[in-house]
Amino acid sequence: MLKASTRTAALYDRVRRVIPPIEWPVFADDIDAILELKRQRNAVILAHNYQTPEIFHCVADIVGDSLALARKAMAVEADVIVLAGVHFMAETAKLLNPKKTVLIPDLKAGCSLADSITAADVRLLRQRYPGVPVVTYVNTSVEVKAESDICCTSSNAKILVESLGVARVIMLPDEYLAQNIAAQTDVEIIAWKGHCEVHERFTPADIRQLREDHPGVTVLAHPECPPDVVVEADFSGSTAAMSDYVGSQKPPRVVLMTECSMSDNIAVEHPDVEFIRPCNLCPHMKRITLANIHLALEQNRHEVRIEPEIAARARLAVERMLAV
Ligand code: 13P
Ligand code: SF4
Repeated sequence: MLKASTRTAALYDRVRRVIPPIEWPVFADDIDAILELKRQRNAVILAHNYQTPEIFHCVADIVGDSLALARKAMAVEADVIVLAGVHFMAETAKLLNPKKTVLIPDLKAGCSLADSITAADVRLLRQRYPGVPVVTYVNTSVEVKAESDICCTSSNAKILVESLGVARVIMLPDEYLAQNIAAQTDVEIIAWKGHCEVHERFTPADIRQLREDHPGVTVLAHPECPPDVVVEADFSGSTAAMSDYVGSQKPPRVVLMTECSMSDNIAVEHPDVEFIRPCNLCPHMKRITLANIHLALEQNRHEVRIEPEIAARARLAVERMLAV
């Protein structure tokens, strides 16, 4: 019988630029077991771009930004979906494909944006601004989505805000995303005070220092960064848009003002691009590991269940987004 590290050798070849050889034996057993469990359970793994490379490149079947994961979750035919990402992503997958078993390997994989607002807050905002539509970022709980008119992601926020044909919208809960979109549209945007704990830490001074230390570097910033950071960057877009930018523009040197694992994951595909890595980790994304994906598949944990009445209303908001 071959050892797990031998059976997974071809996978290691893919990630050898970002995972030192000494670490591979630690991952190989779990990878080997996960691949077998996926076959046995007819399961697929959806992984967000912020997952670590051993998950992203070695066990995931579908990878992408929040929008791509939502779209692709809807079309999954397998019996089981394991969401290697955070809780709201697993809820969105369950909303869009309710007959499937959707598993999140760690229930504490949350999000500072999702935690910043409750359904009661949205009801109060509606009272304060009667008739103003509520556009809600997917980084929210299913209860908050259920109180919303339509959802958006960082990929489609501007298009969605403008698609409503109104002069004013409430956009929740990311204040910086709302301000960054407001800078690109004539629609008036009423924002909430939520922030992403990863992106709020970047500053314009960081970018100026990076440009000084690494001449010629191209700076890409996620729109969850503060507006003064986005203004200072060369390009701003969702995680998928940043990845596409590197693929199409092939900048010789690049820095991604976003979560750490993004650079590792893209670097695997672009050996000719130099990645400068000012690292901000998302502690929630990092709760997902090979070990708990293995357990999730083995013990069917933790299954996402949504109260049907809430699900019906939240699904409407997500489906309206996908229809635009
Ligand atoms: P996108 O992948 O949609 O750009 O979102 C980034 C993010 O922070 C998700 O939690
Ligand atoms: Fe939430 Fe920010 Fe982490 Fe994304 S990176 S899951 S927005 S805390």
